[in-house]
Amino acid sequence: MKLTRRTFLGSAVLATLAPSMTFAAAPLVLGFSQVGAESEWRTANTVSIKDAAKKDGVTLKFADAQQKQENQVKAIRSFIAQKVDVIAFSPVVESGWDTVLREAQAAKIPVILTDRAVDVSDKSLYVTFIGSDFVEEGRRAGRWLLERAKKTPDATLNIVELQGTVGSAPAIDRKKGFEEVIASNPKLKIIRSQTGDFTRAKGKEVMEAFLKADGKKINVLYAHNDDMAIGAIQAIEEAGLKPGTDITIISIDGVKGAFEAMMAGKLNVTVECSPLLGPQLMQIARDVKAGKPVAKRITTEEGVFPAEVAAKEFPNRKY
Ligand code: AHR
Repeated sequence: MKLTRRTFLGSAVLATLAPSMTFAAAPLVLGFSQVGAESEWRTANTVSIKDAAKKDGVTLKFADAQQKQENQVKAIRSFIAQKVDVIAFSPVVESGWDTVLREAQAAKIPVILTDRAVDVSDKSLYVTFIGSDFVEEGRRAGRWLLERAKKTPDATLNIVELQGTVGSAPAIDRKKGFEEVIASNPKLKIIRSQTGDFTRAKGKEVMEAFLKADGKKINVLYAHNDDMAIGAIQAIEEAGLKPGTDITIISIDGVKGAFEAMMAGKLNVTVECSPLLGPQLMQIARDVKAGKPVAKRITTEEGVFPAEVAAKEFPNRKY
């Protein structure tokens, strides 16, 4: 080819543009279906996901399901129709996902589970699950109580349990882990167990009913999250009892509200469950889009915070 001044200049311009044309990849589009806004934990989780998306330049399509599975199914179908790159969701309940996940798979859109698991026989319907080990959280709560019970070895301890949303992974698993551990001490007895749907209002309402039925017989409250424990604390105070003293209270999450309750002597221990999943989710979503292999299960590391350490730990809490 004869190199004229014109073609030479043209090639020079192309050479300057080429790198940016090659490397400026389109931003990743992530469809995320959130459970709702039922708890302090959930609010922190939403903030973490939105902030991380913004920071990483990910286009986030966020849908709030208001604690309803049918809304999550609708959101996932809409993400499929919009041809997003990756779908992520925190399933409100464990079962009933096979059909919609098969639709996502047929559309070749990878699905990431965050926070909560699904119960499906075909594990290829999702790429990975990022979140806490809820059974272990229940065991940690149970182990703390076993230790506490050593102080009063002859006493029977009557426990009331506030469960999370019926059918949700954390409610099923936290119950299972707790029961598994306390079974080793026959003096520990769950006398009532009911759902408080992970909310303060329901936690208060159900605790009021427990107190009406059993009053001073109740020695321990095990709440599947801090919000229900905080609601129950109000019910206990209104019944003229001292939360944290007359009734030992164990809960899960480790939100700031729980630390404040512990510092006020009204809550005895919180088992940590981190909602700060945003940065990890963005990284995994990018890896998945790039076709990199990712682990099928990514478990969050967490601790246990008894009231004795609350004041020291409070300044370090991020949610
Ligand atoms: O799935 C995590 C649980 O959901 C948190 O413990 C609870 O607070 C939230 O609503």
